Amino acid sequence: MRLTNRTVLIVGGTSGIGLELAHRFAKDGNTVVVGGRKPEPQDGLQSVRIDVTDPTSVLRARDEVLAAHPDLDVVVTMSGVLLTEDLRDPAHITDAENMVATNLLGTIRVIDVFTPHLIGRSAGTIITVSSGIAFLPFPLMATYGATKAAVHSYTESLRAHLAGTGVEVAELVPPAVATPAMAKLNPAAVSVDDYLDEVMELLAVEPTTREIIAEAALPLRWAERDGTYAELLERRSAPLKTLPGR
Ligand SMILES: NC(=O)c1ccc[n+]([C@@H]2O[C@H](COP(=O)([O-])OP(=O)(O)OC[C@H]3O[C@@H](n4cnc5c(N)ncnc54)[C@H](OP(=O)(O)O)[C@@H]3O)[C@@H](O)[C@H]2O)c1
Repeated sequence: MRLTNRTVLIVGGTSGIGLELAHRFAKDGNTVVVGGRKPEPQDGLQSVRIDVTDPTSVLRARDEVLAAHPDLDVVVTMSGVLLTEDLRDPAHITDAENMVATNLLGTIRVIDVFTPHLIGRSAGTIITVSSGIAFLPFPLMATYGATKAAVHSYTESLRAHLAGTGVEVAELVPPAVATPAMAKLNPAAVSVDDYLDEVMELLAVEPTTREIIAEAALPLRWAERDGTYAELLERRSAPLKTLPGR
């Protein structure tokens, strides 16, 4: 995709991967707005308050962003919550509901409010954010993985719905990236800087690649095709032993 002179909204851009992506886009000469529940002023970025679990908040944020930026042409649905769960303890349902509300319904809700605007311009890019876990579960993060698999599936359908409108749909498939939360869970996670270097290169390809998959996510993305799925899933199930009573 063209990476300059665009107006980009990154919902879920107030920290982690989203914030770094926002800085990279801004550095390349794009106007960038970041959204989250607690937006704080950031050099070179504009911000909007948005809670993707709240339909009223999403509509209000949409109106605010489009009033200030009628030329908005890139929407990134980055908001996500990652929680580990013990599926033998029914109390996990509260966390499961939170992840479905944010990661899946939040993604759908944000796309819904901006799609008519992008179709009206006959141009634009929607970038959803799944994960390597969408293609190979990590059982300690059961609902998280399920929401990301759903985001992948939804993205494929969205692309078909928007075919011929001029609006392209791409899916970011991050591997484990060492944001503060992930660094604690996975010491092998790639640094945010290295990850974003790779993403910016992959994003620059024309026409935009359907799936923007960093190298570290490739073994997960293609495990089923490569015949490594069962072995990797077994290995990724080992951390369940760290749960109380296992
Ligand atoms: N880090 C990884 O290893 C990794 C791997 C694969 C995929 N991902 C995905 O990449 C995305 C970013 O993750 P990250 O690791 O950078 O996490 P992060 O630093 O925790 O960022 C999460 C972002 O989501 C926003 N958010 C959370 N709940 C929200 C809500 N209800 N409404 C609006 N925004 C909300 C947060 O903003 P506020 O708190 O201000 O609301 C924040 O901007 C997520 O979708 C995650 O699933 C991450």
